[in-house]
Amino acid sequence: MADNQATLTVDGKDYQLPITEGTLGPSVIEVAAFQQAGYWTYDPGFMATAPVESKITFIDGGKGELLHRGYPIDQLANNAEYLEVAYALIHGDLPNAEQKADFFEKIRKHTGVHDQLRKFFEGFRRDAHPMAIMVGVVGALSAFYHEDLDISNEEHREITAIRLIAKMPTLAAMSYKYSQGEPFMYPRNDFNYAENFLYMMFATPADVDYKTNDVITRAMDKIFTLHADHEQNASTSTVRLAGSTGANPYACIAAGIAALWGPSHGGANEAVLEMLDEIGSVENVPEFMEKVKSREVKLMGFGHRVYKNFDPRAQVMKETCDEVLGALGINDPKLELAMALEKIALEDSFFVERNLYPNVDFYSGIILKAIGIPTSMFTVIFSLARTSGWISHWLEMHSAPFKIGRPRQLYTGETQRDFVKVEDRK
Ligand code: CMC
Repeated sequence: MADNQATLTVDGKDYQLPITEGTLGPSVIEVAAFQQAGYWTYDPGFMATAPVESKITFIDGGKGELLHRGYPIDQLANNAEYLEVAYALIHGDLPNAEQKADFFEKIRKHTGVHDQLRKFFEGFRRDAHPMAIMVGVVGALSAFYHEDLDISNEEHREITAIRLIAKMPTLAAMSYKYSQGEPFMYPRNDFNYAENFLYMMFATPADVDYKTNDVITRAMDKIFTLHADHEQNASTSTVRLAGSTGANPYACIAAGIAALWGPSHGGANEAVLEMLDEIGSVENVPEFMEKVKSREVKLMGFGHRVYKNFDPRAQVMKETCDEVLGALGINDPKLELAMALEKIALEDSFFVERNLYPNVDFYSGIILKAIGIPTSMFTVIFSLARTSGWISHWLEMHSAPFKIGRPRQLYTGETQRDFVKVEDRK
């Protein structure tokens, strides 16, 4: 913290606004006192506004740096398991051996979902998008755990985090099985987190011995780690805003899933594959690029609000992508098309001048396709992984006093008018 101040002069009067330093990144000018001047600050899209103080994740978009609890993302993705990263996000540091064993055991104990939850699945049309199902069933968990959930109680909050992280793979796989008309597979607690998810996705009662290979399990775990948290992005901010009212945490996470669904955020990995379908083949790439340049369409999986040089998650994901494609010996024309698109975009001045690089979703979409995950499940997998981040932010918010989130606005509508009865209206 520093005792620097910024002076803002409005209508000839000076206002002293405190400047607060973080441990990394730009300092912030506290503007709350500024309302005495009769003004509000205006910042559509929160381009320069920090609504919270947080110790969980740090991003330096210019440097392409992403740290969780101080650890660089590439070190975490290449050396730690997703659940260790989830522990660090929640507790502030990576677990020691005993803490790891205890945390993993707690997660294993809670992978099952109440049998009555099946009925919620049955209420959806069989062709419902799995994200629509996830928004519904994760929200529905609030009905199962509402009674004994006192959010002022630290133990209750912690068990909520465990339950959510443990149940998300089960619910995600159930949403897929439902859309396929296949029976749900119960979790296998002898498998690790990623293995268990793949088992619940791809095993069937006729093939309960289904086992995936290590390259795929490791790639899946890395995809989870690389999507675990990303500081105050749209969905995390949604979870915090919903949580600031004291709402049930399961409902808050459902709100995060809804926000994640959009193609500008988590829906981008699905949109990448849809775009590849639309392009069709390598010969059509130049024509498609013309459409991008004339702003008819966006190149999905490229660009980022924060990373303007490179996305450090994309670098790890690209290596994993090469590993998976190599190990599976895949020769899919769509994957070739993706690689051709990547090459052209990295060299084309339109993209270079605007600092548009492939983001994590470009490569994760390709990997998920290669391992046989259907496109409609891509954002579901992102939501599964991001749950540890969302709940860490929710926990952080609840561990200290906080205010309900209530932004202001710049009103540009009609000024006061006299009411006119319907029969007299023109
Ligand atoms: N394709 C073509 N042009 C683009 C793209 C793109 N994907 N992204 C940005 N631009 C252009 C944009 O038109 C603008 O050009 P100009 O200055 O000439 O008008 C310039 O680049 C700056 O773009 P912006 O819209 O100001 O950038 P932003 O920070 O507001 O948007 C974004 C970031 C991620 C919404 C955007 O890049 C985008 O829509 N990308 C495609 C969707 C996508 O892949 N999203 C996943 C993000 S990673 C997962 C996550 O963390 O959620």
